[in-house]
Amino acid sequence: MTHDAVEVISAKRDRHALTDSQIDWVIDAYTRGDVADEQMSALAMAILLNGMEPREIARWTDAMIASGERMDFSSLSRPTADKHSTGGVGDKITLPLAPLVAACGVAVPQLSGRGLGHTGGTLDKLEAIPGWRATLSNAEMMAQLEDVGAVVCAAGDGLAPADKKLYALRDVTGTVEAIPLIASSIMSKKIAEGTGALVLDVKVGSGAFMKDLERARELAETMVGLGKAAGVHTVALLTDMATPLGLSAGNAVEVAESVEVLAGGGPADVVELTLALAREMLAGAGVTDVDPADRLADGSAMDAWKAMIRAQGGDPDAPLPTARESHVVTAPASGTLTRLDAMAVGLAAWRLGAGRARKEDPVQAGAGVVWHARPGDAVTEGQPLLTLLTDEPERFERALESLEGGYEVGDEASYTPTDLVLDRIG
Ligand code: URA
Repeated sequence: MTHDAVEVISAKRDRHALTDSQIDWVIDAYTRGDVADEQMSALAMAILLNGMEPREIARWTDAMIASGERMDFSSLSRPTADKHSTGGVGDKITLPLAPLVAACGVAVPQLSGRGLGHTGGTLDKLEAIPGWRATLSNAEMMAQLEDVGAVVCAAGDGLAPADKKLYALRDVTGTVEAIPLIASSIMSKKIAEGTGALVLDVKVGSGAFMKDLERARELAETMVGLGKAAGVHTVALLTDMATPLGLSAGNAVEVAESVEVLAGGGPADVVELTLALAREMLAGAGVTDVDPADRLADGSAMDAWKAMIRAQGGDPDAPLPTARESHVVTAPASGTLTRLDAMAVGLAAWRLGAGRARKEDPVQAGAGVVWHARPGDAVTEGQPLLTLLTDEPERFERALESLEGGYEVGDEASYTPTDLVLDRIG
């Protein structure tokens, strides 16, 4: 059946549920260019304000999947599992996780994106490795999954093209934050990617999309429902993003930290989350007799990492790029670091050049922030607390501004530890 854009927009404006036929039509017509950007903007805003029922979200997701190709990994000799994070500061978990899960016998086909705004993109981080390339053909991806067991590469234009267009539009029309649109955007890509199992890391806190637990839970439940309805074994962990992960945010600095984890060291929170997500991915793929902690300890995850980087042209042993300039922020008093705010650190790293303001901007491989204490650690007045890194020293001033009020040193009693994994939805 054919519809027209004004009819569909008016229906949602007047708080009606859209019919399957209206949804199929509007997504297809928008992808083909028959519905204009200004019409889709109005519809996205009506959805943000008036919401969608579960049936509408499921149909919207299916229509976005149908706008492009679907990948199929059923011919691989091992099961597949993937992870998606809704985005956080210092969130380098994909880097150690993909090779770790591969080392446990499950293939990881991860189609990733670049960062926009204060959360970094996995591809930007990996591109800090000399020679590494993000673009693979479908045939190269299949071959690497069979040989190495893990691929992290750029999603091709053929995957959910409706989402590509709609996400760019939402970004400039204040309509990113709608749960039905976020859930369908993420899940259309992950379902079209063809993974058998999926673990969602839904971040909660100042550095995340979802600032409070209730909204994060609603997003997680919506996404898990969509995944299960599509036959993908899906679970979600709600994890803390009030504090940035690990001890670094940036590109090369996060690769270095990930390599430490693969070598059996690294910050405790990064190790904890990597193992928690690995266990969920393995369980989702039906592998229950391997402990991923053993694969970190015995070096096989590191071997898989090196193979994964080499397969995409990178040199895992080459020195990583470093920033030309650094600036140290010292502790203002002695005591306990009681707070380090993820948003403040993410903004600082972004302003130093680790992230981009527009999607065509370049990023600096060496830029970022390294912190020398985590909340709960004792600090001494004057000791280095944060090191800011950039190639362009004129960026320090704005980065320092974003850190104002972003950390606190107090007495031990005023520090309240929080759990990293806040809930599990599955
Ligand atoms: N990531 C996505 O892919 N889509 C959204 O809508 C939000 C985050």
